[in-house]
Amino acid sequence: TILIVDFGSQVTQLIARRVREAGVYSEIVPFQSAAEGLERLRPRGVILSGSPASTIDDGSPRAPDALFDSGLPVLGICYGQQTMCAQLGGRIEGGLHREFGRAFLEVKKGSPLFDGIWAEGTRHQVWMSHGDRVTALPPGFEIVAASPGAPFAAIADESRRFYGVQFHPEVAHTPDGAKLISNFVHRIAGAPGTWTMAAFRSQAIAEIRQKVGSSRVICGLSGGVDSSVAAVLLHEAIGDQLTCIFVDHGLLRLGEAEQVVSMFRDHYNIPLVHAEVQDTFLDALEGETDPEKKRKTIGRLFIETFEAEAEKLGGADFLAQGTLYPDVIESVSFTGGPSVTIKSHHNVGGLPERMNMKLVEPLRELFKDEVRELGRELGLPDQFVGRHPFPGPGLAIRCPGAVTREKLDILRQADAIFIDEIRKAGLYDAIWQAFAVLLPVQTVGVMGDGRTYEFVLALRAVTSVDGMTADFYAFDMEFLGNAATRIINEVKGVNRVVYDVTSKPPGTIEWE
Ligand code: XMP
Repeated sequence: TILIVDFGSQVTQLIARRVREAGVYSEIVPFQSAAEGLERLRPRGVILSGSPASTIDDGSPRAPDALFDSGLPVLGICYGQQTMCAQLGGRIEGGLHREFGRAFLEVKKGSPLFDGIWAEGTRHQVWMSHGDRVTALPPGFEIVAASPGAPFAAIADESRRFYGVQFHPEVAHTPDGAKLISNFVHRIAGAPGTWTMAAFRSQAIAEIRQKVGSSRVICGLSGGVDSSVAAVLLHEAIGDQLTCIFVDHGLLRLGEAEQVVSMFRDHYNIPLVHAEVQDTFLDALEGETDPEKKRKTIGRLFIETFEAEAEKLGGADFLAQGTLYPDVIESVSFTGGPSVTIKSHHNVGGLPERMNMKLVEPLRELFKDEVRELGRELGLPDQFVGRHPFPGPGLAIRCPGAVTREKLDILRQADAIFIDEIRKAGLYDAIWQAFAVLLPVQTVGVMGDGRTYEFVLALRAVTSVDGMTADFYAFDMEFLGNAATRIINEVKGVNRVVYDVTSKPPGTIEWE
């Protein structure tokens, strides 16, 4: 085990993620309970996180002094380095030399921390984000790397196995950071790399059981990856104490409702309520053309449906959600650059308070790709785990203008053909999201000997890392031509197909 002491950095979870990637179990404890954490976990090593605080301020957080007498190796990151120095007799100064973003450091001396990555005298990119900095080292420490803005960019007391870095090795902008953390965990702390997603699974199951006891849990299932993985994990933990509620609002893709119901009810044997409320949603949307009003109507009906179904079940003590870590962090303020996805799950927002339920969120430490890995570990089919994201308001926001049943049918067929072509071309996994949009525009065409006057369909496919920014996918023209031909031949109601070549920004991924 590696103990991660959290001083309130926005990216402490990234440290945990890097330790997981190194195959080692870690636990994050807030600094106030660090001493108790040391006792309880008996870790092989300790990592001190960054913090928005300043060690110079009165009452700023500290690591337990006992930690530095425990004989354990310690890696202090940013604030963690500063508090370690302050507590061991060094000096910190604030303010003047703020440094944010990319920096280059020079390695002054070899260290086990740099094994296999950084040799003495070489220069490397790292990511900095600090106001304060160390200005005098505690006894026993020496400089192992320096940058122009941070002469004490990396320091070490090799005999006591204390290390401090001013930069953030846990973020992706420090390209060798993961290896550096792995060096600390393996070479310095000697933790064996035996921890896997299988281990996460059993640990998560134990935690769910402990938290939930014999209470009843309901879970909103959308058919998306996150809620599906959460549901399967919960079911494995508490069996039929779990009931899933699947709100079928008539805005799903071709065959989607059947797939979800058959997989969860028949394959996994998970108690599932299939709320068939297509008419409620489609009637309420009738004639509505304003995108925001469409979204609001869907959001409100979603909550009402969910609440009604939950009440029919006699309520529940817990509401389970597939919240991921990027949904948990409010902001990743320190990067100054593009930040991680920040999207709140509005689907059942407010419901726990209204229905007096507690939340259980077994995925809240994980990132999307880790959830996919956990999904595979739980035996969810690959095709399912790798699915493109699908928005809560569904096809309604891919039907600009008023939504009708006829338009939804056309859209569903066209979308299925587009995705089928993408899969056949082996491009599905290279694309973040692909879909069709049925425009509220009719154009003239000619088919056979006749004039046609039918809808225009737009195809959209983008690449993205997190949905925050995106680029259109550069299909070759032959692929697009074939997909268009198939759609026009097979889908009645469409006589023209166009491709959307807008990136985000300035566009968004969805059209509404
Ligand atoms: P935009 O259109 O804002 O979409 O570029 C970014 C990502 O978010 C998805 N999206 C939603 N997901 N509820 C969701 O769960 C929503 O209301 C919603 N709106 C957009 C979109 O599909 C894309 O992946």
